[in-house]
Amino acid sequence: MNVNNRRITLASRPEGKPTPINFKIEDVSIPEAGDGQVLLEILYLSLDPYMRGRMNAGKSYAKPVEIGDVMEGGTVGRVIHSRHPDFTEGDFVLSHSGWQTHAVADGSTLRKLDPSIAPVSTALGVLGMPGFTAYAGLLTIGQPKVGETVVVAAASGAVGSVVGQIARIKGARAVGIAGGADKCAFVRDELGFDAVVDHRADDFQDQLKAACPQGIDVYFENVGGHVWDAVFPLLNDFARVPVCGLIAQYNGAATHSGPDRLPVVMREVLSRSLLIRGFIQREFADQRPAFYSEMASWIASGQIRYREDIVEGLEAAPQAFIGLLDGRNFGKLLVRVAA
Ligand SMILES: NC(=O)c1ccc[n+]([C@@H]2O[C@H](COP(=O)([O-])OP(=O)(O)OC[C@H]3O[C@@H](n4cnc5c(N)ncnc54)[C@H](OP(=O)(O)O)[C@@H]3O)[C@@H](O)[C@H]2O)c1
Repeated sequence: MNVNNRRITLASRPEGKPTPINFKIEDVSIPEAGDGQVLLEILYLSLDPYMRGRMNAGKSYAKPVEIGDVMEGGTVGRVIHSRHPDFTEGDFVLSHSGWQTHAVADGSTLRKLDPSIAPVSTALGVLGMPGFTAYAGLLTIGQPKVGETVVVAAASGAVGSVVGQIARIKGARAVGIAGGADKCAFVRDELGFDAVVDHRADDFQDQLKAACPQGIDVYFENVGGHVWDAVFPLLNDFARVPVCGLIAQYNGAATHSGPDRLPVVMREVLSRSLLIRGFIQREFADQRPAFYSEMASWIASGQIRYREDIVEGLEAAPQAFIGLLDGRNFGKLLVRVAA
């Protein structure tokens, strides 16, 4: 086939914030699909906060990307050649093909997508890993009850937007925290949260307290840092805290100065019977079938709305990813790799 595969590899490991020199764009030939495999043209690449961790050396909950390897990432692609009986040319599939325009994948690793349910790009967002993270983390760990107050940070983003909307479906009061007036207006007016607070405001802590007059029963933690500091004193007895992400810390920035606060936190965990539980979404994989069907019906009925932030062309991925870690995305961040 007379086409090249363009791909973005990890050129060097960032110190602090990533910069464009940490990435390298290269063109290589397209591999052939073997038995049981398909050749994919990638249409959408998902950019997600976890990718920052993969750029570091050393294992966390997953292996790092090695220098010279293609950057990891979830993708939606179109089958352009199939040597697997379940797939034919033109099928749309979810794969984990990384930052490149073409990929060969084993058919056994793919999920076929039905474009009549929702645009295929949603398989990377509201109907994909971030939506599932919100669903499983909130319902399994947060367990919101009717009338309770659920607070979520990064509330306009892929995970947070779904957390607040599911909280409302379950009869809870949803309070979002977002950065800047536009995101706050979207969370309140488009997503229908009961209240929203701007974490960049000088009086953020006071505003959050005013928005949560009954305290906080569930805090879905996406951020850490100064947002956690503002939330912590407002947690009610028996509050649940699904710890999903700590994006304020991913670039290695010191988020706290001053004395060690762990003793204070532990005292409150004990005396207020707090449940603080970290999770990685894949541990709840058995809930995925329920998620796909429930989320599809919530989208169809208009109970869940979503926003995508789509940048054009694979070459735009590094800059867009750097912006994600600074809050410059507005909605689920995707790269349109091909039309
Ligand atoms: N545990 C899991 O299995 C799992 C799975 C998926 C995602 N996650 C985590 O979930 C969180 C949200 O992910 P997402 O994909 O939905 O991303 P996202 O919310 O679409 O985008 C990230 C948002 O984080 C906020 N942010 C970035 N830097 C910040 C900082 N220094 N301080 C405060 N806020 C900051 C920004 O929103 P504002 O401008 O509104 O502040 C930014 O738009 C991340 O922490 C991610 O790692 C965890």
